[in-house]
Amino acid sequence: MSTNSAATRFPERFLWGCATSAYQIEGSPLADGAGPSIWHRFVHTPGRITDGDTGDVACDHYRRFQSDVDLMHSLGLRAYRFSISWSRVMPQGTGRVNAAGLGFYERLVDSLLARGIQPMATLYHWDLPAALDDRIHYWATLNEPWVSMNDGYLLGIHAPGHRSAYEATRVAHHLLMAHGKAVQAYRASGSNQIGLVVNIEPKYPASDDDADHAATRRADAYMNRQFLEPALRGTYPEELPVIFGQAWPAISASDLATIHQPLDYIGVNYYTRSVVRADPNAWPLRTAAVRQKTRTHTQTSWEVFPQGLTATLLWIKNRYGNPPVYITENGAAFFDPPSVEGAVLEDPLRVDYLRKHLRAVHDAIRQGADIRGYFAWSLLDNFEWAHGFTKRFGLVHVDYETLQRTPKASAHFYSRVVASNGAALDEPAAH
Ligand code: FCB
Repeated sequence: MSTNSAATRFPERFLWGCATSAYQIEGSPLADGAGPSIWHRFVHTPGRITDGDTGDVACDHYRRFQSDVDLMHSLGLRAYRFSISWSRVMPQGTGRVNAAGLGFYERLVDSLLARGIQPMATLYHWDLPAALDDRIHYWATLNEPWVSMNDGYLLGIHAPGHRSAYEATRVAHHLLMAHGKAVQAYRASGSNQIGLVVNIEPKYPASDDDADHAATRRADAYMNRQFLEPALRGTYPEELPVIFGQAWPAISASDLATIHQPLDYIGVNYYTRSVVRADPNAWPLRTAAVRQKTRTHTQTSWEVFPQGLTATLLWIKNRYGNPPVYITENGAAFFDPPSVEGAVLEDPLRVDYLRKHLRAVHDAIRQGADIRGYFAWSLLDNFEWAHGFTKRFGLVHVDYETLQRTPKASAHFYSRVVASNGAALDEPAAH
């Protein structure tokens, strides 16, 4: 850590990367013997995705991965977080392993390692996989189980599109059981690092009313503690049975013991905060988000709130005994034109978002949080789940007609930050 508080320098060996996920960029979902995933079926159900978009082509990364790895190399990235599509590796979900599907990830990893880029693989970024070990030092079991539960099974806006509190609570518990068992299986055969990736959105009360404070605690328990608490402490937050009532399942001590496995790191995906008020009519949490009208919002309507990232990292440090943390996703969708005109694509709002959030990470490090790396979401503009292709999160622009990649100003900025291990954050802002 820097001893000079004025200079922005990240720890030595800080891991600088970009993140993606399989379904969002690969395309060719049924190639080489892959089976359909829940997302493949969901996107081919009319009315589910903005503009009827699908991941059938996405960024065509399945066929262009070599040049995408070259692109990462040209940006000077040190790490790449991707996910392994379960349906490529095990087309039927269980049983037979599809060598051709596994082969794709073997080639991707070969190509990353050949360019000195550390792979970080997620086992389940909303479709599931198997094993590769030796060459991958960083593994994650689940990506954002809260989103699988909330969007996929409670609200039905993500695949598989179910709406049931009974199902959602069971899905959440089984995701955690799968996490615990995956960590146990990994310990038996793997020798590197395995962690859990969660989305954290700090919750702030809209007023000093007791009702708003209680609502804030419920929202925090549901999104921020539901997965970390059992994984890191072996208990569920006491608010959850109250929120879900009869829909909350009976949970055995032996299940909690399975879930509570020592982890090598926590992956934190951070985008925004939420300001919360009580709302008796909102099912099932009885809370509502209060939009902060005077603040900047991204294209997904997420408030830009960098200090929430510092707060989140310090909260994890203090509550969970300062575990090693990677920021496994952080980024912003702002409008960029569909095709690039001219030599440079300026994306000043995204540059500003990155600069402020990286400074927020540095602040947390300065205050003693054990932060080991940062992955910008995302390397490429890609298929943003139910929003289809209408939200661009990439540091690299993708023209969806030609599939041409063009680094945006934010990619060049991030590349300078990586090359200088943070010092470029001290450059005067151009905008
Ligand atoms: C996260 C997801 C990721 C992407 C970003 C914007 O919730 O993990 O796949 O959709 O949001």
